[in-house]
Amino acid sequence: MKIGFVGAGKVGFSLGKYMTEHGVSVSGYYSKSSDSAREASEFTNTKYFDSIEEILSDSDVLFLTVPDGAIKDVWDSLKQYSLTGKFICHCSGAMSSSVFSGIGQAKAFGYSIHPLFAVCDKLQSYRELSRAYFTIEYSDEESKKHCMYFKDMFEKMGNEVRFISAGQKVLYHSAAVFASNLVTGLYSYATELLQECGFDEESSEKALAPLFMNNCENVVSKGIVDSLTGPVERADSDTIKKHMEALPKEQLGIYKDLSERLIKVAKQKNPDRDYSIIENELYYQNGNEVTDRK
Ligand SMILES: NC(=O)c1ccc[n+]([C@@H]2O[C@H](COP(=O)([O-])OP(=O)(O)OC[C@H]3O[C@@H](n4cnc5c(N)ncnc54)[C@H](OP(=O)(O)O)[C@@H]3O)[C@@H](O)[C@H]2O)c1
Repeated sequence: MKIGFVGAGKVGFSLGKYMTEHGVSVSGYYSKSSDSAREASEFTNTKYFDSIEEILSDSDVLFLTVPDGAIKDVWDSLKQYSLTGKFICHCSGAMSSSVFSGIGQAKAFGYSIHPLFAVCDKLQSYRELSRAYFTIEYSDEESKKHCMYFKDMFEKMGNEVRFISAGQKVLYHSAAVFASNLVTGLYSYATELLQECGFDEESSEKALAPLFMNNCENVVSKGIVDSLTGPVERADSDTIKKHMEALPKEQLGIYKDLSERLIKVAKQKNPDRDYSIIENELYYQNGNEVTDRK
């Protein structure tokens, strides 16, 4: 099976390089700009294609590694050619293979195959891809018959693979956003607070880095419950009250919401500790009335 890539960006470069490094046969690249496709084909020692028709005829599998918003357009342009027996995949986390409308009639097989990984560098990210989970979702019963091809391919390269359904994709993708992009949002808030304490932008990012990295490592190595420290875990209601009095309105809401979540985690860690004071503190300061409490 020869795999071709339409879209020579971060994921196209990285997946193609990762595959060739593991002995998977990659035909080459077609992209919106010929420069990107040429660069990717040189990077992976594969072919450059001048048209979508050429890459289609030279590939058994096509990965449409284009932005989510372009997947439907690329699929629409593919549909004018014979697609019998071809495997068409995209890598969007939130979209399912239902974007490949009419794929059954075209006698082709459709999949969304998503690396649960931040692919941020088109030349370097492939080195770390073996750590990524891949999720596979298929378009219909016919596509299901061949889904083990992709599972086996990624497992042979060292990846964990999970199947998910089309209906789960959006929720699944929000989990990824919670674990990555939204953490960046929290980090950005943290640097802003340090800047209010006199740090400049650069030193605020640097100063928080060891704390951030150490916490990430602990969450990953020890797990969510065992890694939890801080005022919520200690049931330190005075400190939490002071934080809430000092925080600007913009950060206060998120502080309360996440602290409420941490109480749940803290209770798992310390089942005998009394969290009722901070629970009440957070609940009633969140604008709730006493009568709202269940
Ligand atoms: N980056 C991540 O962390 C990540 C992780 C998991 C999944 N994904 C998914 O992977 C897919 C690609 O994301 P990416 O981060 O690699 O995006 P990207 O770096 O922006 O690359 C997209 C590439 O597609 C090319 N392109 C755009 N429209 C096209 C069209 N109509 N026909 C052919 N090529 C076209 C672009 O053009 P040029 O030819 O002009 O360069 C660009 O090189 C998306 O579905 C995304 O959701 C991304």
